[in-house]
Amino acid sequence: MFVKNAWYVAAHDEEVTRALYPTTVLGERVVLYRTDKGDPVVLEDACPHRKLPLSMGRLKGDDIECGYHGLVFDCAGKCVHVPGSAKIPTGAQVRSYPAVSRYGLVWVWMGDAQRADPATIFKVEHYGEPGWDRNQGGDMTVTCNYLYITDNLLDPSHVAWVHPSSFGDASCEGEPVKTTVAADGVTASRWMRDADIAPFYAPLIPLKGRCDRLQHYEVRFPSHALIKAVFVPAGHGGDGAELRPDAAVMDSYNFMTPLDDERTRYYWFQMRNFALNNDKASALMDQSVRGAFSEDKVILEAVQQGFKHKTSANIDLAIDRAPLSFRQKLQQLIAAEDPAVASNAVAQKSIR
Ligand code: FES
Ligand SMILES: [Fe+2]
Repeated sequence: MFVKNAWYVAAHDEEVTRALYPTTVLGERVVLYRTDKGDPVVLEDACPHRKLPLSMGRLKGDDIECGYHGLVFDCAGKCVHVPGSAKIPTGAQVRSYPAVSRYGLVWVWMGDAQRADPATIFKVEHYGEPGWDRNQGGDMTVTCNYLYITDNLLDPSHVAWVHPSSFGDASCEGEPVKTTVAADGVTASRWMRDADIAPFYAPLIPLKGRCDRLQHYEVRFPSHALIKAVFVPAGHGGDGAELRPDAAVMDSYNFMTPLDDERTRYYWFQMRNFALNNDKASALMDQSVRGAFSEDKVILEAVQQGFKHKTSANIDLAIDRAPLSFRQKLQQLIAAEDPAVASNAVAQKSIR
């Protein structure tokens, strides 16, 4: 089940060209391409005649021609040509979805097109600003429900066990995590005092020695996360402390797009205020992040299977507060969009 009235990432900008690009978003098969002018187009990937994927056809200018019997559709999904017939049959239409290129990604709105407002696309702070650089990032398909990934991104404690060689170690534990529930999402955060600089950051940030470190894990509806890491010299961090100008900050943006109930395409990139104009550092971070996310992938795909085949009840712990709050509010949003879901919904007290 998904929130439909929201922007999701459908592809990287460079994947959407004048060639037809088929993909799946929220269980719906869609085809992407770009108009001659460069605007992204997203259409239902099924000809209304015999349901051949339109992605098996070809572009004719900005229109798309079915590869079976040649029906032609414009970028609004309207049939504009039927070979051998002057008449366009009723129902000769495919669905078209609002789409926008932003932050190197193509975003698509899968719900009510009237409600699609590009101003509501997740805001990436400092994008393109001087004093900030971007790790290019990447994507991977994880064979699990997207909610296991949002769980993971609201769970700072897992880094000690899943990413000991990059983002954390067990000495991180013991600091309580603060959960904040807001209208647009949930945050789990904590300052770790007098900590080691995590191995991932140690060679890259100017700070040496002991530090105070912020772990800010925030997931906004429907499934987009900002993971903020801040490092300041030990003794200078903490809630309410003004951020020093020499603070090393890395904002990691994570956009999860459910392909269907059991597969999620996970897109990410980071903004950083250190190691500027340093391609070697960018490449190193890209490699390390992909390595860490591959560690998550192994765990989350196994968790998906674990829940799918469970033969006994699971338990929840105090660390699950933020993920459970997120799931609960998301469920309300889904139910508000779809009365059928609302009437069938069973109160979700536990993670599946
Ligand atoms: S299946 Fe598309 S025109 Fe026949
Ligand atoms: Fe992780």
